[in-house]
Amino acid sequence: MKEVRIGLLGAGTVGSQVARILSEQNRELSERAGANLVLSGVAVRDVSKTREGIDPALITDDIERVIQEADLVIELMGGMEPARSAMLAALNQGKTVVTGNKAVLAAHGPELNEAAEAHDASLYFEAAVAGAVPVVYGLRESLAGDRINQVLGIVNGTTNFILDQMTTQGWSYEQALKVAQDLGYAEADPSADVEGHDAAAKCAILASLAFHTRVSIADVPTKGITDITAEDIEQAREAGYAVKLLAKAQRVLVDGVEQIALGVEPTLVPLTHPLAGINGPYNAIVLETEFAGRLMFYGAGAGGAPTASAVLSDVVAGAGHIAHGGHAPRESVYADLPICEPGKV
Ligand code: NAP
Ligand code: HSE
Repeated sequence: MKEVRIGLLGAGTVGSQVARILSEQNRELSERAGANLVLSGVAVRDVSKTREGIDPALITDDIERVIQEADLVIELMGGMEPARSAMLAALNQGKTVVTGNKAVLAAHGPELNEAAEAHDASLYFEAAVAGAVPVVYGLRESLAGDRINQVLGIVNGTTNFILDQMTTQGWSYEQALKVAQDLGYAEADPSADVEGHDAAAKCAILASLAFHTRVSIADVPTKGITDITAEDIEQAREAGYAVKLLAKAQRVLVDGVEQIALGVEPTLVPLTHPLAGINGPYNAIVLETEFAGRLMFYGAGAGGAPTASAVLSDVVAGAGHIAHGGHAPRESVYADLPICEPGKV
């Protein structure tokens, strides 16, 4: 079998689980890819930390070298830089990139996609939206024959966990956030979670995929959960609602012109709605489609191993293409739909 060399950028909550599963399940993953998967380098910030299960000889802080020595680069450093430059460098060298970095995708997706196309490279990002839940694959491939009218979902595990624990366990907001951080659900800077920016990035990615138009995080009006109290949640429940941080993207007609309405905000969801029962770090996305009707994607939205599962599914697909030809689905942008002004619908 052809060897595919894998460079891992980042070995934190998700990267460490990717390295572990890649090692423990190497034979099976290699068989599925039809290529011998070899971890060739691991870039981290602090090379002095002990990294259980990773050969110390592979650890470095030299990102460029890890990229150069790999056929496939997994970016799991998070943040904007050096993640964006690293992915761009890898794509410009014609390498396959797998990432979970929704922040970079939602701000610089076009630049990355153009580099992939120009250099016959591949960009995979299943882990960037809803952790283990295969909604990116669903929109990019399974539903390529349909027309999506609306995307509505709980796409941030940290905030869903916090809202849940504040009521079911009676925890304070601060206590719930601390546990979400300890469990590896939160972003390195958790304000991205609680202020709604992480959900907004995912909303932009989902809307771009669903409507074949370009949506950036800057297009998504966003409100987080920092003002929500346990009393608010209790009162809502007594009135028959759950409070959920929802991301919403839908086609709307404004003055006869089709537009995209977007938003992320805490929302009162009737207790009878399927999203009301999604608790803990779980995510769920409901798609309203023209032909298939309503579809719901549900599962673990955050955490090391679930997210590693999504990353490794992209690794298997990407390594398969490297070994046997082909590339990731190209960005499919052909509709230039205006973004609806907030308050218009
Ligand atoms: P994390 O625990 O903070 O790990 C980040 C890793 O990247 C660490 O190993 C860190 O090195 C390394 N790193 C950071 N800056 C670096 C730099 N400048 N040079 C070299 N290495 C650097 O983050 P994470 O939770 O694994 O998340 C990684 C990515 O996956 C993010 O984009 C996140 O949004 C996304 N994601 C996370 C989850 C989740 O549940 N955690 C789910 C889906 C997607 P050190 O170890 O030396 O600090
Ligand atoms: N911090 C993110 C969340 C990680 O809580 O959903 C998964 O993208």
